[in-house]
Amino acid sequence: MKISDRRVIVTGAGSGIGRELALRFGAAGGTLALVGRRADALEDTATQVRASGGTAHVIPADLADRSAPDRVVAEAVQLLGGLDILVNNAGNVRAGDLESLSQNDIEAMVDIDLLAPILLTRAALPHLRAAGEGLVLGIASGIALVALPYYSVYSAVKAGLAHFDESLRRELLDTGTRVVTVYPGATATPMMDSSDAGEDLGFGRRPVSDVVDDIVAGIEADLLEINTALESRRAMQELNRTDVAAVDKALQPRLAALRAAVSGHRSI
Ligand SMILES: NC(=O)c1ccc[n+]([C@@H]2O[C@H](COP(=O)([O-])OP(=O)(O)OC[C@H]3O[C@@H](n4cnc5c(N)ncnc54)[C@H](OP(=O)(O)O)[C@@H]3O)[C@@H](O)[C@H]2O)c1
Repeated sequence: MKISDRRVIVTGAGSGIGRELALRFGAAGGTLALVGRRADALEDTATQVRASGGTAHVIPADLADRSAPDRVVAEAVQLLGGLDILVNNAGNVRAGDLESLSQNDIEAMVDIDLLAPILLTRAALPHLRAAGEGLVLGIASGIALVALPYYSVYSAVKAGLAHFDESLRRELLDTGTRVVTVYPGATATPMMDSSDAGEDLGFGRRPVSDVVDDIVAGIEADLLEINTALESRRAMQELNRTDVAAVDKALQPRLAALRAAVSGHRSI
């Protein structure tokens, strides 16, 4: 699928991967609906999209609000005159021992990383179908492929999103609407600012522009799954498919260091 001249909803478009994706779609002549809570951050993205030749509309919304997904899709479809691509990118994270996680933080991850993309996709499907060639792009995480300690809830919701995408892709086969899942490895975005985990712990961060290069190339190559992880993490992902106990064992010596490095990791 070529990304040029598409009508696109990007959630979480005020920063990080969502902003960079919006800029790529915009530079390719796209008409965008930019969604997130911070109107000022979305306006910054919109200004950059317009400067590169695209068209951008801002839809401020808290996607944890149960009525927001339907409203956002309806408003976007009206502004864009239809819909070709839904990018389920908005996300949040809270790391730490399971018992240290507050009810609010757990619910925030379920709401934003899992429930909101499901509701947005349900609302978007009739419009994607009407477009003829539609795409749902789910930004999951490499953690959906190897669940990591101290990220129990985040691992669960990202794996949930990846399986939601996989199921829906099969359900929609040959209907004209494709579902593509992205598994980003650690990426230098605001989400990672509060994490102290670096390369030594397997969290070497790639620049966001490199990651989005891979995502755009993957869409244009018609990949169904786009994995942007570094080689070291990919080796662990492969091992996790064949020998989970070996991954348990490999992580064990690093548990204390990992716990110390990520216990303050929070973007909620
Ligand atoms: N960075 C990484 O290492 C990494 C790795 C794997 C996967 N990912 C995934 O990549 C996606 C993008 O994250 P990022 O790294 O680019 O981080 P980011 O810069 O923190 O972006 C997350 C975006 O989600 C939006 N968001 C959060 N809560 C929201 C809510 N309640 N309603 C509406 N929008 C909300 C935020 O906008 P507002 O604050 O304005 O609402 C923000 O723009 C996420 O799904 C993340 O889980 C990131």
